[in-house]
Amino acid sequence: MSTANRIVLPAMDMNVSEDGEIEQREIDHYVARAAGGAGLIITGACAVAFPHGAASMKEPGLSDDKFIPGLTALADAVHAAGSKLCVQSTHHGKVARVDIANDRPVIAPSAPDYDYDYSALADSTPDELGRMGAATGGKKAVYREMDHSDIAWLISTWADAADRVARAGADAIEIHVAHGYILGVFLNRRDNQRTDAYGGSLTNRARLACEVIAAVKERVGDTLAVLVRVAGEEYGQDGGLTLEEAIEASRMFERAGADAIHVTGWGRNPFDNFTDGPLPDTVGAYLDNAAAIKQAVSVPVIAVGRMLPEVAEKAIDDDKVDFAAMGRQLLADPDLPNKLAAGTPELVR
Ligand SMILES: Cc1cc2nc3c(=O)[nH]c(=O)nc-3n(C[C@H](O)[C@H](O)[C@H](O)COP(=O)(O)O)c2cc1C
Repeated sequence: MSTANRIVLPAMDMNVSEDGEIEQREIDHYVARAAGGAGLIITGACAVAFPHGAASMKEPGLSDDKFIPGLTALADAVHAAGSKLCVQSTHHGKVARVDIANDRPVIAPSAPDYDYDYSALADSTPDELGRMGAATGGKKAVYREMDHSDIAWLISTWADAADRVARAGADAIEIHVAHGYILGVFLNRRDNQRTDAYGGSLTNRARLACEVIAAVKERVGDTLAVLVRVAGEEYGQDGGLTLEEAIEASRMFERAGADAIHVTGWGRNPFDNFTDGPLPDTVGAYLDNAAAIKQAVSVPVIAVGRMLPEVAEKAIDDDKVDFAAMGRQLLADPDLPNKLAAGTPELVR
């Protein structure tokens, strides 16, 4: 897959699908960013086992052929606007609010040994609190430790989802191995307390992600590029993934078939340190981590986290990373890439 430039729209979920089907409003949103010049458009998280493992009933699904026409319309529209399309894929695991709301146990490597500090909720408005409560029907998660048949199911479900993304004519799929979702918690030593081949050493904790990557790769061949999103570091709680672990894991992902590594960051308590990750307030927040991972792999590396144009330009020029993803910047101004290309950065919102 080649792209017109090195600016990437990273995944930002829109929450406007209807029962998993992508609708015109979502297509229009991505087309505006494609027409604005971003070389690669990555969709918001899509649920490989929808509605199972979904964060919302308004999240796009990848679990049935009925979702292919919406994905095809999106791929065609993004291509017509001059960009390439990558579909982000995940199973939300312990934060799958649709499962919680429907009294289904959430799947996890093992039940967490901690509860979040919710004190920051005191800053929320009654309306915000109501909406958050409604997402899970006010219910608490019940955890189910995945057994080997759950693991086999997840791998084959992910490969089937990738096949649908390929049949829809997209250019790439991103496999989410971060942000507290199922593959990210398997990778983390605190969230994964298993004693079988999927827990313990880093190799064991990375095994499920590697098996998903390999199964996806085997199914889609060269039809799709396979991007892997990993936290270069996790923040705010003992047991967070370290940069050293992320580097080693990225090497394993490359060996398993990853065509690119997309380096994010994650604050482990979303009610507390969300601005450490995944929505950092620091400029170039994860750039050094991305650069360290690039040193260790031979596939391209994407940096994200307030990659302002001048920061991105220098980082790519210095060969620290290969691509810069700009999320909130492209929400604010979809035409940012075209304005830079036209030599009018002063017009960027
Ligand atoms: C509204 C919104 C929704 C997001 N949804 C996702 C998502 O679905 N999947 C994901 O991996 N990251 C998601 N993110 C994180 C972004 O991909 C990105 O990593 C983050 O915004 C930091 O980049 P930025 O500083 O360029 O905005 C989301 C961010 C925002 C602002």
